[in-house]
Amino acid sequence: MNELSTVNDIAAKSVRTLPDAQTVTHVHHWTDRLFSFRVTRPKSLRFRSGEFVMIGLPDENGKPILRAYSIASPSWDEELEFYSIKVPDGPLTSRLQHIKPGDQIILRPKPVGTLVLDALLPGKRLWFLATGTGIAPFASLMRDPETYEKYDQVIMMHTCREAAELEYGRQLVESLPDDPLIGEFVGDKLKYYPTTTREQFHHMGRITDNLRSGKVFQDLGLSPMNAADDRAMVCGSLAFNLDVKAILEEFGLREGANSDPKEYVVEKAFVGDGI
Ligand SMILES: Cc1cc2nc3c(=O)[nH]c(=O)nc-3n(C[C@H](O)[C@H](O)[C@H](O)COP(=O)(O)OP(=O)(O)OC[C@H]3O[C@@H](n4cnc5c(N)ncnc54)[C@H](O)[C@@H]3O)c2cc1C
Ligand SMILES: NC(=O)c1ccc[n+]([C@@H]2O[C@H](COP(=O)([O-])OP(=O)(O)OC[C@H]3O[C@@H](n4cnc5c(N)ncnc54)[C@H](OP(=O)(O)O)[C@@H]3O)[C@@H](O)[C@H]2O)c1
Repeated sequence: MNELSTVNDIAAKSVRTLPDAQTVTHVHHWTDRLFSFRVTRPKSLRFRSGEFVMIGLPDENGKPILRAYSIASPSWDEELEFYSIKVPDGPLTSRLQHIKPGDQIILRPKPVGTLVLDALLPGKRLWFLATGTGIAPFASLMRDPETYEKYDQVIMMHTCREAAELEYGRQLVESLPDDPLIGEFVGDKLKYYPTTTREQFHHMGRITDNLRSGKVFQDLGLSPMNAADDRAMVCGSLAFNLDVKAILEEFGLREGANSDPKEYVVEKAFVGDGI
């Protein structure tokens, strides 16, 4: 038995006894540090597109290692999808990256989060601003019909260091107009603006720089952001979130919350360095 199957066997044995176990149905590795997977959905789980839950695996002693994960699938989907980083020495993802269909993970069915449509005042354009795995909540919201019922235009800006890291988002966005379930809602409302910062690509630069310089508005043929028409959701590292917040405030947008909807909302994609 190799080391990997031992890890999986230990995980499977200890999780099966837990009440919050869900079964993995699909795994796709996008790069050596990014993967997505789908699991069964607890019958009782209701969530709003954009929310996150705690998921995890047991450690060697059977104690759960739990981390926050945005649900990447929309609220109507019968399974749950997640999009994950692989941190080489990360307590959870050093194990989670080895899951395969049939394995079980722990999923605490208590969804929460600020990246929900209810936390924004009505508007005309909705901007999704994400770096790295921060695209996960927007993978959910981009597949929710309500997003397109509420907004005339939806703009997905996603930035990674390298082009291969954009691939999960690219394939998802490009599949949506022809999707049998959601395609008619999406129509031509969804605009996609992927950029890289450390590898040559057709569009480059940080989201902050492309907003501040106005390049994204010129490239997409859109008017600059204003508080009357534009709403935004932000998800990335702490440093990214702070820098984007400052720019959105310069455009006149104010930060909202579930209990106090305004023009933009923010959530961390990961807690860590980078400030
Ligand atoms: C609200 C919220 C939602 C989240 N949603 C997701 C999600 O959908 N997908 C996801 O992969 N992660 C997500 N995370 C991060 C996640 O909770 C874990 O941190 C991540 O799975 C790594 O776990 P770990 O135990 O392996 O390492 P940790 O000990 O948790 O992290 C180690 C270090 O790795 C870096 N890191 C952690 N997560 C990321 C990341 N996503 N991208 C880049 N660097 C990272 C940070 O520097 C961190 O200090 C979310 C975090 C929060 C707070
Ligand atoms: N991505 C990789 O290939 C890679 C490989 C090995 C290890 N890591 C490590 O993994 C961790 C996370 O890396 P990551 O690439 O997922 O996330 P990241 O460092 O947050 O970078 C993701 C994207 O966000 C941009 N960005 C970062 N801070 C920003 C800010 N304040 N304002 C605007 N844009 C900002 C980056 O641009 P810039 O490129 O301009 O910073 C990059 O395009 C880091 O500690 C890194 O050292 C990453």
